Amino acid sequence: MLTTYQLTILVLSLQTIRTIIALTQALKLIRADKKKIAFVPTMGAIHAGHLALIKKARAVGDFVVVSIFVNQKQFCSNEDFSRYPRTPKKDQELLKRTKVDLLFMPSEEEIYPLNLRFPKFKLGYLEKILEGKIRPEHFQGVAQVVWRLFDLVKPSIAIFGQKDYQQTLVIKKITRDLKLPIKILVEPTIREASGLALSSRNIYLTFVERKHAVKIHQVLKKLIKNLEYKKKLIHNFKVQLIQEKINQIDYAVIRDAETLKLPRKNHSLVALTAIRIGKVRLIDNEIIKL
Ligand code: PAJ
Repeated sequence: MLTTYQLTILVLSLQTIRTIIALTQALKLIRADKKKIAFVPTMGAIHAGHLALIKKARAVGDFVVVSIFVNQKQFCSNEDFSRYPRTPKKDQELLKRTKVDLLFMPSEEEIYPLNLRFPKFKLGYLEKILEGKIRPEHFQGVAQVVWRLFDLVKPSIAIFGQKDYQQTLVIKKITRDLKLPIKILVEPTIREASGLALSSRNIYLTFVERKHAVKIHQVLKKLIKNLEYKKKLIHNFKVQLIQEKINQIDYAVIRDAETLKLPRKNHSLVALTAIRIGKVRLIDNEIIKL
């Protein structure tokens, strides 16, 4: 059993906590102090997109917890789990500088012990369309790990990126359905100066592929820019991408921003796309305010 002093040192120096026992002990003190825990779950390979979520967590919470766990359950069988970038030393360094209070880096066994029972996640159409259609097990995997992490960290607030738009709707749904007392915040996508959305997978793009990838946001930007153009483009989103020589398009659609169903009159829309460039799959979106 650690003393309060040892725990304080542990937290101040951003010791990585790997076990549930240590996590529970550290958070017990924080909760006893009635501090508001703000939580940012990640799969690591930390970039400025993650750091923006952490900055928000700092602004809205009293104690910031970040987790790094590459969740195999959300990778489909044909996907890049073993290739997913893992840079723990660099991540720890970055998180230390960003003044994260606690980094939780659990093992597979800690997150998924054999006797663990999950609630039933009824994601409905949300797991059957767009990302869910192409990646059938993906959102159940996301729901399971986020529910598990929420259960361990018990945050008051959790922060996610708009970059993974459909994921934010899935997380809001499970939080609502299971009546979890957690406020879900969604923060804007952080981009390179070129407009390319930051992603842990961008490191796999070659110089030429990167030039192609930049076009995705150029088309999205036109969509949200001027109304005349917008009306025309809304029907031609995919065509616009193809004109920019982006050919491997999983989807490029305009949907209702709240539900991801077909657009409703006088409701905000969202343009969502997933494309493949070389071996890399990229997703991006922009909300279109009418
Ligand atoms: P990961 O891809 O590491 O992303 C962690 C969080 O960072 C997510 O909320 C994601 O939407 C956000 N994010 C990623 N790129 C961003 C960008 N360019 N700007 C702003 N935010 C960005 O998403 C996951 O991990 C996992 O599915 C997870 C929720 C951790 C469950 O395993």
